[in-house]
Amino acid sequence: MTQEPWTFPVAQRLEGVHSSPVRDILSIISRGDVISFAGGIPDADLFALEDLQAAFAHVLAHQGRRALQYASTEGEPELREQAAARVARNVPSTPEQIQVTSGSQEGLYLVGQALLDAGDVVLVERPTYLAAVQAFTLAGARIIGIPTDEHGVVPQELERLIGEHRPKFVYLIPTFQNPTGTTMPAPRRHQVAEILIRTGTVLVEDDPYGQLRFTGEPLAPITAHPGMARQSLLLNSLSKIVAPGIRVGWVRAEGPILRTIAIAKQAVGLQSAVVDQLAAAHYLATCDVDAHVRQVAAVYKERRDAMHAGLPHILPPAATITSPDGGMFLWARLGHGIDTAGLLPLAVEEGVAFVPGAPFYAHDPDHSTLRLSYVTNTPEVITEGLARLHRAIRSHLQEHRISEEPTSNNIR
Ligand SMILES: Cc1ncc(COP(=O)(O)O)c(C=O)c1O
Repeated sequence: MTQEPWTFPVAQRLEGVHSSPVRDILSIISRGDVISFAGGIPDADLFALEDLQAAFAHVLAHQGRRALQYASTEGEPELREQAAARVARNVPSTPEQIQVTSGSQEGLYLVGQALLDAGDVVLVERPTYLAAVQAFTLAGARIIGIPTDEHGVVPQELERLIGEHRPKFVYLIPTFQNPTGTTMPAPRRHQVAEILIRTGTVLVEDDPYGQLRFTGEPLAPITAHPGMARQSLLLNSLSKIVAPGIRVGWVRAEGPILRTIAIAKQAVGLQSAVVDQLAAAHYLATCDVDAHVRQVAAVYKERRDAMHAGLPHILPPAATITSPDGGMFLWARLGHGIDTAGLLPLAVEEGVAFVPGAPFYAHDPDHSTLRLSYVTNTPEVITEGLARLHRAIRSHLQEHRISEEPTSNNIR
């Protein structure tokens, strides 16, 4: 006779924390015939496979015993050196200021563990990256969204919310934001930095997409603003520019907080995988990763163009879409009282998937929003996916008796 599973008394701090809807959708749509605009999944055909094979082979051939051994929590010196050199393009940095992490997701978790007590407030963009909200909520934080416009957080609102809530930190993704794809221009970065300095507020700046630029001029992170580096934790990752299966990222910080983060990391996993760290360091030291990123960005630009040009023809009249200069995502607001969570099953039936926007809001979601990733599919497949999405939207509008008029979309 089989027994019922044991009822484990689950920790209270996990009760209000939901599974990531993106990950849940990814498992539903593993069906081969669904065109997915859902995950921010890099195109695997663009990975620098031969260079990475060579890097791993080199490490196992020449540093094999070291690569297979336990190692320091802070990270391998070669990788910390490469990371510091890359960060130092914008913010003067030494290898000692780099804590290696297993992807920047671990960085977010460690930052939460290192800084947050139960009940602390974290201010985030409205909307924001939902797995960051997950990590900070697990650490007991109360998450409050800062109103945004097409340039990112609205400075007056940021200052008002800092005054009202005295947050432990502000979490921002200023470049090619997830989920909206928007970028905070330089003047807004200065305004935000000045508010954070004046109010003595810590910044957690998440920048995994910054180098994936297709158009426009590169922008330095807010951490690079004079006086900001000492009160910022800057997170980078190799996931979007090299490959996410190599779980390598880092946190750049100054002073004693580095030690606290390292202690948190000891408790989570002792260290990141040494093989991955040494191979990543070898790859960064011996290959032209910037040239590789330029090639990838050129391909992604065509895909963004295909999606950006196609969307106005398939969305209802009141819809708006963002115009990203880089990164992986485009954000749409459909209006018309449409709930995109209700649209998703129809879309999957038609053979296309996206992520409904509501989970990206810490509170008071806009249910008519959705996130579309353009990086995984070719322009031809994107066009077919949009045709399927069009059919799904039409049936949703008919089902809910919403009238559709000729499109005249606002692009922002
Ligand atoms: C804004 C942001 N931060 C962090 C991550 C985590 O990436 P990884 O852990 O692969 O570096 C992601 C992944 O999608 C992201 O979009």
